[in-house]
This record gives sequence, structure tokens and C-alpha cells, in this order.
Amino acid sequence: MTPDERAACPVHADFDSLSPTFLADPFAVLASLPREMPVFYAPSSDYYVVTRYADIDAVLLAHETYSAAPAQLPLVPLVSEAAQILRAGGTTPQPSMVSLDPPAHTRLRSPTVRAFTPRRVAQMAPRIRATVGQLLHAIDPATPFDLVATLTFPLPATIIFSFMGIPERDWPQLKAWCGHRASLAWGRPTPTEQVQHAEHMAAYHGYLRAFVARKAQARDDTFTSALLAIHAEEPEALTPEEIASILYSLTFTGHETTNALIGNVVRRLLEAPARWDAVVADPTLIPGAVDETLRYDPAVPVWRRVTKRPVTLGGVDVPAGAKLFLWLAASGRDAAVFPEPETFDLRRANTSKTLAFGKGIHYCLGAALGKLDAQLALDALTHRFPRLRLVEGQALSFHPNISFRGPQALWVQAT
Ligand code: HEM
Repeated sequence: MTPDERAACPVHADFDSLSPTFLADPFAVLASLPREMPVFYAPSSDYYVVTRYADIDAVLLAHETYSAAPAQLPLVPLVSEAAQILRAGGTTPQPSMVSLDPPAHTRLRSPTVRAFTPRRVAQMAPRIRATVGQLLHAIDPATPFDLVATLTFPLPATIIFSFMGIPERDWPQLKAWCGHRASLAWGRPTPTEQVQHAEHMAAYHGYLRAFVARKAQARDDTFTSALLAIHAEEPEALTPEEIASILYSLTFTGHETTNALIGNVVRRLLEAPARWDAVVADPTLIPGAVDETLRYDPAVPVWRRVTKRPVTLGGVDVPAGAKLFLWLAASGRDAAVFPEPETFDLRRANTSKTLAFGKGIHYCLGAALGKLDAQLALDALTHRFPRLRLVEGQALSFHPNISFRGPQALWVQAT
């Protein structure tokens, strides 16, 4: 971008979505932004920041104008050693469907939709209930416990990895690789950390390719085998490399997001105990509690696009090739759509308008599953620990990345 192009747009020199202040409370920073500046340029990251619901909605719907290409791009330029390791390991800048535009996007999304049917999701309910039951049973309620370590982290990982047919012995390794992936693509790693993350990414890709090859020899009734069946039917329509790319999507999105969602729901209910007590007294409020959390404190607070041509967005002229931060978290607090947006309202009528799962051709494929995980977890938790409370005085911490946000630990006591 040239200095002239930048001058056409307001610039916010201090806006840094990876600063400790922002990570601790992004909502306070977003609320402090001048209303007349719904689109501005942030030099700290070389991105345009978009905060208004209507603008984000319009961008998400116009995939011909706004490419998804930067969705997983490292925020910082990579040192050459890290870039070289990634290339050699087969990690491309657009490694999976969420950062591809049509027709490449359609090639991956269509078979995924075929294999990831609503029926398959509904069939997961008994498994989710059983897993929540086991995880809660293992908790000693006599002492405070960390709900992230005991429930929100292991639950979605167990569900999605078993759905894909990944052997349980490999789950800890996959979870660790996902942590490296979050730091590399959505954080600000040092050069040394970049190299370490890149090595892990190469191993992660290698694992998924070998896993697909193994499954092809012994198909079963898992999601991966459903994809392999599509490949067997029509080899050119879906290659083993593309199946590995789909698994690369789901191994990450399938648990990092839901982990954050459940942590955010429980946090938001317990920080005002009357909310928790209301849900305990009336479990029909559970779906609303999950949906309101997605509006008020979304697990994916920001997502990215890049302009394919010059546009006017929020009254600002934006050049072609401009990278955009779409602040989904700010869209949920937009009073033009959600009246009294700072109020957490268990009975809010229009939470379905949330952009927390995106919109348009990339709309989250796992929205129903993520919500089901969270609802069933909350249902079991409120039954088992009706007097649950937050441990007082704890300072919450968040993984230093821009796109996946939930407490890293949430200490509670059963009282
Ligand atoms: C529970 C909380 C979740 C949230 C807040 C969330 C959010 C999102 C967002 C914001 C996008 C990008 C949408 C866009 O670019 O327009 C997305 C895409 C996606 N999500 Fe989720 N997600 C969640 C759970 C899941 C789960 C559980 C899965 C898998 C089982 C999943 C799989 C995907 C996939 C595959 C895409 C890419 C779709 C495409 O590019 O066509 N997500 N999600």
C-alpha cells in the first residue's frame, strides 16, 4: 500500500490486536473506538480494521470482491528458514478450504458437506453425552478445579478426533500441533518460535497424509472413510491430498473453537451468578445462553479477507489487495442490530443474526456440532454442579493469538 492510499483512510496508530491490553479485554478497546471510524487502517499489523455489523455482513457475502486467502496467513512475515520448512513439509499459504476461493473452495467444501451430514452430527449426541458424563465423573468436587483442563478442552477434541477415526493415542500430539498452528498463523512468534512451529506443521501434515493412506487400506464408518468412499467412487473429484487438507481443517476448527465457546459460556454465566442460577432453574434457557455467548463473547473474535479490487467500505476508499480484519466480536456489540448490546440477555430474541460463524459460502460447517457440544456440556454441568461458582480473584489469561479466544484456565468450585 502506498502512503497516498493510506491517507484516504483513517489510521489508528495505537491499535494492536496482539497487545496485552487488547488480549485481556478486546471489548473495552473496541468500545472505545470512535463510532465515526467503522473502518480504519492499523499499521501495527498492516490490516484494515472493520467493526460495523453491516460492513462485515456485506464483506462476508461478497466473495467475488473479497478473497478468503489471508484467513490462515501468518500475521508476521516469516523468516526464510521457517518458510522453507513449511514449503518442504507441504504447508501452502492457503492450506485448506477456509482460505480458498471458488472453484478450489467448492472442490473441498462439497465432499465435506456430503460426508458431514446433519444425521451424522445428530448421531454424535449420545457420544457427547457419554463423554461429558465421564469427564465430569472424574472431577473431585471437594476442591476447586479448572474447567478447561477437565472439560472444555478434552470434550470437543474427543468428539471430533473420534468422528474422524483418529486413534486415541495420537490425540495429545494433534492437540499440541494445533497449539503450534494457532501461534504461527494467528499470533506473533519470534523467529526461533517460527522455526519450531514450522517443524511441527511439517510433522502435522505428514501425519495426516499417512493417516489417510492407512485408512484407505481399512475403511470403516468414520468421517474419513466417508471421504475415502467419495474418492473411490470418483478418484478425480477428491484426491487423498485433498482429504488430508479437509482433515487439516477439522482437526483444528473442530476443537479449538468449541473449547473456547464452552469456556466463554460458563464464564459469562458464572460472572453474574444469577444467570447461572436461572439456567439451573430452567434448562430450556441453555440454547439461548450458548447463542447469546456467541454474540457477546465469540470464540472466533476476528476473521480475515483481502480486497480483490478497490472498494468503498464504511465510507472509506480501500485499495485492491488490502487485508481486512473483520471484527466479528464488534459486530455482536453493534446496537444497530442488537439493542443494549452490552447487556448479556439469556432471552435475547435475535441472536440468530450473529456473525460468529461467518456467513456466505464459508459459513462454518461445524456450527451445529459446536453448539450441540456446548449445550450438552452445559446441561450436564448445571445438573451435576447446580451451585457452581467461579473461584474468586483469579485473573483470566488468553492464548496470544487474534482469532481463537477463550479462557486458558477457568477455576471453579462446586460449593
Ligand atoms: C463452536 C464454535 C465455532 C465457531 C465460533 C466457529 C467459527 C467459524 C468461522 C468464523 C468460520 C469462518 C467463516 C467465514 O469465513 O465466513 C468458520 C469456518 C469453518 N468452521 Fe467453524 N466455528 C466453530 C466450530 C466449528 C467446528 C466444531 C467445526 C468442525 C467440526 C468447524 C469447522 C469449520 C470449517 C470446516 C470451516 C470452513 C468452512 C469453509 O471455508 O467453507 N467449526 N468457523
